[in-house]
Amino acid sequence: MKNAVELLLNWYLQNRRMLPWRRDTDPYHVWISEIMLQQTRIEAVIDYYERFMKKVPSIQALSEISEDELLKLWQGLGYYSRARNLKKAAVQIMEKHEGIFPDNYADILSLPGIGEYTAGAIGSISFGLKEVAIDGNVMRVFTRVTGRDLDISDLKVKKEIGEEIKKILPKNSGDFNQGIMELGEVICIPNGMPKCDICPLKDVCVAHRNNLELSIPRKILKKEKQEEEYTLFLMVCKDKIALRKRTSGLLKNMWEFPNESGFLTYDEILEKIPSIQELSLSMTHTHIFTHKKWFMNSYYMEVEKELEGYVWVTLDEILEQYALPSAFTPFLKVFYKK
Ligand code: ADE
Repeated sequence: MKNAVELLLNWYLQNRRMLPWRRDTDPYHVWISEIMLQQTRIEAVIDYYERFMKKVPSIQALSEISEDELLKLWQGLGYYSRARNLKKAAVQIMEKHEGIFPDNYADILSLPGIGEYTAGAIGSISFGLKEVAIDGNVMRVFTRVTGRDLDISDLKVKKEIGEEIKKILPKNSGDFNQGIMELGEVICIPNGMPKCDICPLKDVCVAHRNNLELSIPRKILKKEKQEEEYTLFLMVCKDKIALRKRTSGLLKNMWEFPNESGFLTYDEILEKIPSIQELSLSMTHTHIFTHKKWFMNSYYMEVEKELEGYVWVTLDEILEQYALPSAFTPFLKVFYKK
């Protein structure tokens, strides 16, 4: 394994991608990027990261940002509790740590939204702490290189892998942690054939030697997603569109088109919305979340006056100021066409 660590470090130092958050090891930069990168591909994160740093360049700025502005900056990244926790953590750093990002593992881990993975990543990259950062990529690379057919969805297995990696962690722990993640992202990939011919670990990898790259780590059947049906009201009054703020549950405090559960008929819509002048069935869209699948049907409707209970805004205002989750943005094209 010692040999593998050196091979990995050399490979990383020569091949690491120049990503915007790697210009320095400032913990604020590492923190924001690591949170954005959770559940989100690197290519998708780059523009969000650059925009975020322009608008919110410091911990203090983050602690003072309004939730609406924050959610707008996060719009499209999903998992919005990540954004809310960022602000909470920034407030905590201002109050408890005089605005300076803490440099020890326990204090980093105590910040809202920061779990063991993120604390390990920031601790090792920014402060050189001897901490591991175990994500799916790391577990895949580890199980393949050691040839161990483990179930990496099991938290006990994750803990064991963390303990084993900690034993071989070199001094430059940040480079090691980033290197093993990066290898998992670009070479030892999760879907399809890993690129073993260009892998720095091919000569020491037990799975590769035994042609087991595709069966390690073992695949676990995913749970079925819960399916839900909705009808969206794409409601227009002159040049204004009706929006509503979600008050609870999934996507709380984000904006949405008014909607009801189930697929409603023309007659049901006419009963619910007074003063409809024009009503037509519009587009459908399916949105897949981690645990849910939304089937959405929509009606375009023109109404005589701005009904109460909604905010009425122009298309430009929606695009510039309102955080509309990706589940709803496909419906914006209905208004472009009008
Ligand atoms: N994926 C998430 N964080 C990463 C990092 N710091 N380096 C490489 N890949 C990552």
